[in-house]
Amino acid sequence: MQSNRIPRRDWLVGTGASLLTLAASAKAGAAPAQPQAQKSSVAEDADRARRMQWWHEARFGMFIHWGLYSVLGRHEWVMENEGIPVTDYEQLAKRFQPKPNAARAWAKLAKQAGQKYMVMTSKHHEGFCNFDTKLTNYCAPKQGPGRDLVREYVEAARAEGLRFGFYYSLMDWHHPDGALCATNEDARKRFVEYTHGLIRELMTNYGKVDVLWYDVSWPLDARGWESERMNKMVFELQPDIIVNNRNALPGDFSTPEQEIVADQRGRAWESCMTLNESWGYQHADDDWKTPKTIVRNLVYCAHDAGNYLLNIGPKPDGSIPEESVRILTEVGRWTSRNAESIHTQDRCQPHRSNYAGFTRKGNTLYMHVYFWPGETVALSGLKTGVKSARLLASGQQVKFQQDRFRVRFTGLPSEAPDRPVTTIAIECESEPLQDTDFVRRERPRNTV
Ligand code: GLC
Repeated sequence: MQSNRIPRRDWLVGTGASLLTLAASAKAGAAPAQPQAQKSSVAEDADRARRMQWWHEARFGMFIHWGLYSVLGRHEWVMENEGIPVTDYEQLAKRFQPKPNAARAWAKLAKQAGQKYMVMTSKHHEGFCNFDTKLTNYCAPKQGPGRDLVREYVEAARAEGLRFGFYYSLMDWHHPDGALCATNEDARKRFVEYTHGLIRELMTNYGKVDVLWYDVSWPLDARGWESERMNKMVFELQPDIIVNNRNALPGDFSTPEQEIVADQRGRAWESCMTLNESWGYQHADDDWKTPKTIVRNLVYCAHDAGNYLLNIGPKPDGSIPEESVRILTEVGRWTSRNAESIHTQDRCQPHRSNYAGFTRKGNTLYMHVYFWPGETVALSGLKTGVKSARLLASGQQVKFQQDRFRVRFTGLPSEAPDRPVTTIAIECESEPLQDTDFVRRERPRNTV
């Protein structure tokens, strides 16, 4: 997993810092008059920075894929990938009978894991609505669950003080117009009204919603979905919400999936990932990531000021697979000791090590050692003076020696003092910068 390096100028975009720069130069009279179009985009950027402030600080969220597919337990794409006829699949709606308030355990686990927000599938590609709607009977209150599962989720998130959002799939394998809309204008109009109507209900019936997470825009484009109008309605109903980029418009943030790649344009981004290989419950998927991998991924995201949206796929009764609980609980022990190194909006330039990842807050560099080398931990090419260092989990001071080419942290235990990753907080004299090319070029060669 490679984190991307981004040009320094682009670091500023998406965190609001660019606006500060712009504002400062305008004040000083340095900026030329902005044409009208750019002016409005500066206003849009300012509004985006305001709406996204909490999200940038949050860094870590829980994704929840839950729907009728969980009854079969063979992945959320089972309907399409096994070619199940609609009328057969519909039978699952009666069999889906989760225990009350299953979402409370999700929210508790998220909080314990250090996740600050949750995003739950309100409707996945299968077309079943987990929420109450006047627009279809294919929804939780009118089928097996007998109640609004989205409402339970909203209440659970609020009870734990977590932000929350709704995932919503535009693609719909169940609705009669879900595919026809691509080739029949009447069907398109009907389906767009249905889709906008469902989104309107989601944006109206649950109080303040923090995120709208669109998914798969097949088979229409932004014009077909009337996505501009869709987003306009969303922002009218929820002025503080943030929306992603999957309704065929750029939205507020990009959504790399199953990979950690910083957005090259400097836009805000969130990597969504599974804990095993499936989003929806897949009873036979035993390919679980280790807690160490999860912590490393979180560090990679925070390195480039990205978010990490990590998925659970609850069982049909709403309980969380045991392995997910085990992994997230261990991750939570780590995040509780190392929170300050993750909840940062600052991009981090140092990135070269064979055994550590890096994050930064102000002038503090956090070195996250995932393969502990023993009594000495070394870092090449740090161009910034180190003032002090400590083990983040215990606060214990760490001795160090620094010259032009490296800094060595010494007198450390032979076994890693924290697990699965040990973080050394390194206070620097200014923003920490690393240059290993300098080391390669300039290091004295003794024999030539
Ligand atoms: C893909 C999949 C979907 C999953 C989503 C999560 O779009 O189709 O099943 O919900 O990714 O990002």
